[in-house]
Amino acid sequence: MTGSVPVVRTVSGLRAAVKAWRAAGESVALVPTMGALHEGHLTLVRLAKEKCARVVVSIFVNPAQFAPHEDFDRYPRDEAGDLAKLADIGCDLVWGPDRGEMYPEGFATRIVPGGAAEGLESDFRPHFFGGVATVCCKLFTQVLPDIAVFGEKDYQQLCVVRRLVRDLDLPLEIVGAPTVREADGLAMSSRNAYLTPEQRRIAPTLHKAIANAAAAVSSGAAPEAAAMEARGQILAAGFDKVDYVEVRDAGTLAPATTGTGRPLRVLAAACLGKTRLIDNIAA
Ligand code: PAF
Repeated sequence: MTGSVPVVRTVSGLRAAVKAWRAAGESVALVPTMGALHEGHLTLVRLAKEKCARVVVSIFVNPAQFAPHEDFDRYPRDEAGDLAKLADIGCDLVWGPDRGEMYPEGFATRIVPGGAAEGLESDFRPHFFGGVATVCCKLFTQVLPDIAVFGEKDYQQLCVVRRLVRDLDLPLEIVGAPTVREADGLAMSSRNAYLTPEQRRIAPTLHKAIANAAAAVSSGAAPEAAAMEARGQILAAGFDKVDYVEVRDAGTLAPATTGTGRPLRVLAAACLGKTRLIDNIAA
């Protein structure tokens, strides 16, 4: 462990710290997180450090992106562990507002994203991207970074955030980083902590099935047939429910049309008991 990382809890404290860096001519990167940091997050921080002089990591479990029946209360939280990991890799500042600082009394303004936000996750979590877009817009205007780094693991979120930044002329660049996987292919996620040993054994099938679908589409299979095959493989492995497996345009997330030469992406969500896993891969 190497020292500690400063934590700011107020927008004014955050702005003062960033202003001092700007005065010294330093560039600033933001890595937005909800904490419970794993190697996937730390990879985003390392990438941010390669690109900018200073790195801010935000840790805020955003209530606006959870529906009442979802796991906001049981979402894993470990601020002391997160701070130790971030100190070790040289994060410059943690932005850790409480709920009242992020959503002050009387808060009444929300972003309503369209386009890439429609379908897929939104069919199952209709409130989700509104909450993500609203908090990301606030994080961007609070930190005013040059870049913000997001993992491709949440691919639809990455597309929504890119669109948000373009549509609202927010002055930063969004950088996407490849998904970090366990040795057996399972995408790293804070929610993997919920899996029982038996569910953890089954979980990598999600990645295997979409990788098979991507390979099939690349060799000319029809997207819908490849997606249906993947759904069957996921259920046969022991998943309790498949929310979707879809092949989409990698840029707009519109349904895939083959023969256009545009890059495609296979996206999937499936449940093991109460734990919902998502994954995606280039086709
Ligand atoms: O991906 C996440 O952890 C969250 O959706 C984000 C981007 C930090 C917004 O709360």
